[in-house]
Amino acid sequence: MSNPADGIAYTNGSYVPLGEAAIPLLDPGFTRGDAVYDTTSVWKGNFFRLDDHVERFFRSCERARLSPPADAEGLKRVLASCVAQTGLESAFVQMISTRGPYQDPTNRDPRQCENTLYGFALPYIWIIQPARQLEGIDLAVATGNRRTPPEAIDPRMKNFNWLDLQKGLFEALDRSADTAVLCTPDNRLSEGPGFNLFVVRDGVLRTPVGNVLEGITRRTVFELAADLDLKAEEADLLAADLTSADEAFLSSTAGGIMPVATVNGQPLGHGPGAGPVSLQLRAEYWARREAGWHATPVSSLL
Ligand SMILES: Cc1ncc(COP(=O)(O)O)c(C=O)c1O
Repeated sequence: MSNPADGIAYTNGSYVPLGEAAIPLLDPGFTRGDAVYDTTSVWKGNFFRLDDHVERFFRSCERARLSPPADAEGLKRVLASCVAQTGLESAFVQMISTRGPYQDPTNRDPRQCENTLYGFALPYIWIIQPARQLEGIDLAVATGNRRTPPEAIDPRMKNFNWLDLQKGLFEALDRSADTAVLCTPDNRLSEGPGFNLFVVRDGVLRTPVGNVLEGITRRTVFELAADLDLKAEEADLLAADLTSADEAFLSSTAGGIMPVATVNGQPLGHGPGAGPVSLQLRAEYWARREAGWHATPVSSLL
């Protein structure tokens, strides 16, 4: 018997145990990576910045010429229902639209596909476990491959073309690092598997501009920085801006604000372990989430 707390999915208009959810093999969402998605989270019964995630999802759909069969209000109800059926207090929640199977599988015209909507909720995912975050992680700058450039696939459109990010992650693990940040073909720092990057130097936060997903947690960092009187800006950054930084951290829905201890095996300027500014932002992020900042109660959507 499947346990609802392991996850619940919405597929084709019905709710099923996550382990039983499937998409048709010939959906180009699978065979072509022709799909967009967004990930939000629930912490202690509250969605975080749900409207921002739903807005970004529909913008991704537009950029990919996908029309999922739902509007924002309907989608929010589907996601809340997935969470409620798991009974989880804290959850990782995803919405997906795929191109949908061809009406006639021998005709490859994508306009004939009926676009889909999927959603699911499962226990909250930490891409870096909290204890490891407090120590500070080992980050590698990937050398084996580059982030797909915006001229090929617009990174603002959150999509499933993850082979570049997965390759970077494998390289990081092979090098005994926790994860990797990738550079663009013209040597600019971009992002990594599931996160944006910030560097801190002389008290100023900087994050790559232009060749990244505009992360909702990244946006949250700008708001926290303003409240804490820290300057924060988008900038063109090179790997040297990371290796010579005082501190660095990652930002993601799946883990929050995650301090970096080493880059390519070397400690950053502030010394060993997680940096003080990164730790302060991390503490502030979780304190505010606990206090209901940017919150939408799951129960308000049922
Ligand atoms: C490639 C990429 N960059 C950045 C992020 C962080 O975005 P957010 O803070 O909205 O979770 C993600 C999140 O999954 C991602 O996949």
